[in-house]
Amino acid sequence: MKPVKITVVGAGNVGASLGQRLIEKNFADVVLLDIVEGLPQGKALDILESGPVLGFTHRITGSNSYADTAGSDVAVITSGAARKPGMSREDLLKINTGIVSSVTKEIARYSPDAVIIVVANPVDAMTWVACQASGFPRSRVMGLSGALDGARLATFIALEANVPVTDVNCWVMGEHGSSMVVFPRFATIKGKPITEIFSKEVIDRLVQRAVNGGAEIVGLLKTSSAFYAPSAAAGRMAEAVIRDSSEVIPCAACLDGEYGLTGTVIGVPVKLGKGGIQQIVDAGLTAGESAVLSASAAAVRKQIDSIELQG
Ligand code: LAC
Repeated sequence: MKPVKITVVGAGNVGASLGQRLIEKNFADVVLLDIVEGLPQGKALDILESGPVLGFTHRITGSNSYADTAGSDVAVITSGAARKPGMSREDLLKINTGIVSSVTKEIARYSPDAVIIVVANPVDAMTWVACQASGFPRSRVMGLSGALDGARLATFIALEANVPVTDVNCWVMGEHGSSMVVFPRFATIKGKPITEIFSKEVIDRLVQRAVNGGAEIVGLLKTSSAFYAPSAAAGRMAEAVIRDSSEVIPCAACLDGEYGLTGTVIGVPVKLGKGGIQQIVDAGLTAGESAVLSASAAAVRKQIDSIELQG
């Protein structure tokens, strides 16, 4: 049987950390791809040389050529520009649309059966771009959102309650951005909703910190955005697909009627396994909650519309 193969496009902080996390778990070969000559090769070789120390046996290689990614089971797209001072959200949207679109086409050409996981921002709109550019069924294209946002919220809840983070479970939905949707009843400690544990004031503070989670890290690092938690969360998604775990993890998914939404991408809980999204899970939202999710979807739809206008 051919070994499982995962391609990580982009050998920056998120991509290289993801390559390291995946290879250390030792369930797949990894190809780290980047346009910068030497960068993916150097990082991959450095990671590979940790194998004898750590005891993993799979291979990680670096490349500048999509031919080396051929036959990948999963491809994670981390490439894309980060917003710089003076740059509007639309500028970023335009640049990353071009990058994600061309990367996706190459991935689809060499790995027509792959599951694509998009990390590039703004991730909901970029997942839509990857859906269009790949021509893949929507079950095989998804974006990193709730797996990361939920991990951040779980971290803050565990710190607040002084419990092990493994006791905490969170579903975070909606846009991976300012209209992120957190319904506190879907955040639990040992199965008990935090609405029965914390005051509204505390919950609001924890939720706000999760919504600003990415920005808080940028504020501290100053010259970089987060990469340890994002790479861990993207790695969890890839592992769920490869191991066919059928875990329910909120992800950015292309919707076609689910949650009353069509023609857009938004974070919702999905069952991940072989073939990608096996099911979009109905969270049983109240009418009020559905309205909040729809408003977030409308914010993403605006971005998608502006991409379409730009052609
Ligand atoms: C963040 C980036 C990965 O939230 O979107 O840190």
